[in-house]
Amino acid sequence: MKSFSEVLGPILYNTFRPLKKLPFTEKILRSGYYELMAFLRFSEHRLRSLGKTDNLDFRAYKQSQQAWPVAFGGAQNAEELCALFDRLGVRCVQGGHTIYLPPQEKLTAVLGDMVAAFPPDAGYKILKNFAAPDEAVYLFSGVTRARSAEKMTGPLSTQEAAASALYALGIGPKLYGLTELQSKEQRYSCFVVRHVAGAVPTLAEYDRFMRILQQHIEKKYFSLTSISGLQDEDFLDKPGCNGNLIREANSDELLYVDFQQFLPETNRILADVVEAARQDLHFGDTHLHHGKKKSLYQAIPGAGHAGKRDTSMRWPTIREMLAAAERPLHGRVVLDICCNAGLMSALALNAGASWVLGWDLPKVIVHSRRILALLGANRTQLFPAQLGPEYELKKDIPAWITPHLEGAVVFYLAAWHHVGLIRDLANIPWQTMVFESHQNETVDSLRETFSELMQLWQAELHSSREIADESGKRTLAIFLRKTT
Ligand SMILES: C[S@@+](CC[C@H](N)C(=O)[O-])C[C@H]1O[C@@H](n2cnc3c(N)ncnc32)[C@H](O)[C@@H]1O
Repeated sequence: MKSFSEVLGPILYNTFRPLKKLPFTEKILRSGYYELMAFLRFSEHRLRSLGKTDNLDFRAYKQSQQAWPVAFGGAQNAEELCALFDRLGVRCVQGGHTIYLPPQEKLTAVLGDMVAAFPPDAGYKILKNFAAPDEAVYLFSGVTRARSAEKMTGPLSTQEAAASALYALGIGPKLYGLTELQSKEQRYSCFVVRHVAGAVPTLAEYDRFMRILQQHIEKKYFSLTSISGLQDEDFLDKPGCNGNLIREANSDELLYVDFQQFLPETNRILADVVEAARQDLHFGDTHLHHGKKKSLYQAIPGAGHAGKRDTSMRWPTIREMLAAAERPLHGRVVLDICCNAGLMSALALNAGASWVLGWDLPKVIVHSRRILALLGANRTQLFPAQLGPEYELKKDIPAWITPHLEGAVVFYLAAWHHVGLIRDLANIPWQTMVFESHQNETVDSLRETFSELMQLWQAELHSSREIADESGKRTLAIFLRKTT
């Protein structure tokens, strides 16, 4: 069904078109029309998002925003900043609204410690409107346009959601995060994205991509910020969409690297992604049923999907136990063994964890990647794996993150019956483990498992607690690595 603006737009446009020919009226009519349409489209987008959340708070799963000190400052505007990067030998590409720094050797000289905190394939998109993420507007204010166009793109969280949605739908690269850069003089907003290197697509590939986009728009996964929709000049520029559509060299995927054109309906996408995942995300010997449907293991917010475990209910206890052990998650890497849909990983990122490495079965991980992106939990790398006691976790861990593993936290939640005790954890320098038993296991019944675990990984039991929900009692325990 067409929205109000989609019906009203052409009627108004055609009614007033004849007046365009009269002197002075064209500009007034045009900006009035655009202002009105932009207002209507954005209001509709807001209205559609209302009332879509359920009792699980979506925001609890969004990753914390990081702030990084940077070694540049003093530049008054984008031109000066680019000139400064040039002088320092750092390659930058100026777009309409952003300054993009692709991956390159000298990045640390300007971006400091942030560079080591992201994968080496990260590119950095700094907004030309210099301001912190909470205050910045994506569209560069140095260009004249209808004021409503700025409102249309919404706050930066909308672009964050748009980039994540493109990734979840397989048509955009991963967004690692939106960060604040802080110099002595200035605050900046920076999107950290996976850099896409490749070629201009063929016309046939362009057509294929546009059809996919059209389908997503019909399913109401997105609306477009531009009033001209798919007739916008970027989409009409065949086949490369003004450099935004790239066929990636090593994956052959067609990826759209700009995201400010899209207003995502994240709840709608999430609901469909979860529906498609239901069969794989379920886990257990017996199937719980909600109506005739298999239930998920982890409840997923936003999409209204109940699960066997409401992860947010065990979370306060885990955080209390970590606080009592003086092991906050902030700034630490988390290794989530048997991560399932990744909801516990997301909660950890929300609590300030710097990065999550997660493992689960291949059929599960395809869904977890998309779900985590839609929740806004993107500082992640997930590994499809058939885990078992002899599995070599270390082989999966990328070299760039190895220096950050010191002091890592391991989540071993409702996992040990499935994968045993993975020996290789002895070779990773984690310090803290959050262990959760399976149903109806107590510290007493786990005595043998705990002593094997402590010996295998050189760890000590710090504390334990029983928790319960409608499906029974379980034991949570914190283990700390013995210092040598
Ligand atoms: C009971 S769920 C626990 C999920 C999550 N840790 C939590 O507590 O919310 C067990 C998970 O282990 C995964 N799993 C089972 N066997 C596995 C294996 N051999 N390798 C990797 N993952 C496995 C399942 O796919 C499922 O996501």
